[in-house]
Amino acid sequence: MAYNPKVIEYYENPRNMGTIANADGVGLVGAPACGDVMKLTIRIGKDQDGNEVIEDAKFKTFGCGAAIATSSMATEMIKGRRIEEAMKLTNRDVANALGGLPPVKMHCSVLAEEALKAAIVDYRKRTESNG
Ligand code: FES
Repeated sequence: MAYNPKVIEYYENPRNMGTIANADGVGLVGAPACGDVMKLTIRIGKDQDGNEVIEDAKFKTFGCGAAIATSSMATEMIKGRRIEEAMKLTNRDVANALGGLPPVKMHCSVLAEEALKAAIVDYRKRTESNG
């Protein structure tokens, strides 16, 4: 299987790996295609205009190299972005930013997208229940 150099670079030097302590949102998802798991934690702040932005994002995964590379890239792409913008990020955007993935590895990028969306939904639930 051929990975392009950018995927390999992100796999070998993962960005934003780990867990945010006292995160504002946690997304934990599994990939039906392979059974691997992804956990994404986010911290939310406000920009000058009062919009909610993702200040920080970290991931941990039991997934493969493509899962590490895509979640790494996804965390970089959403940091500093407004929540509404981050919600629009798709696994294809992430795979494209990495220069593409082998077709059998596209499901790994879905893990990153779903974990991100789950973390935002979790954040929304928490803020709503806090009034
Ligand atoms: S094979 Fe499971 S995440 Fe890639």
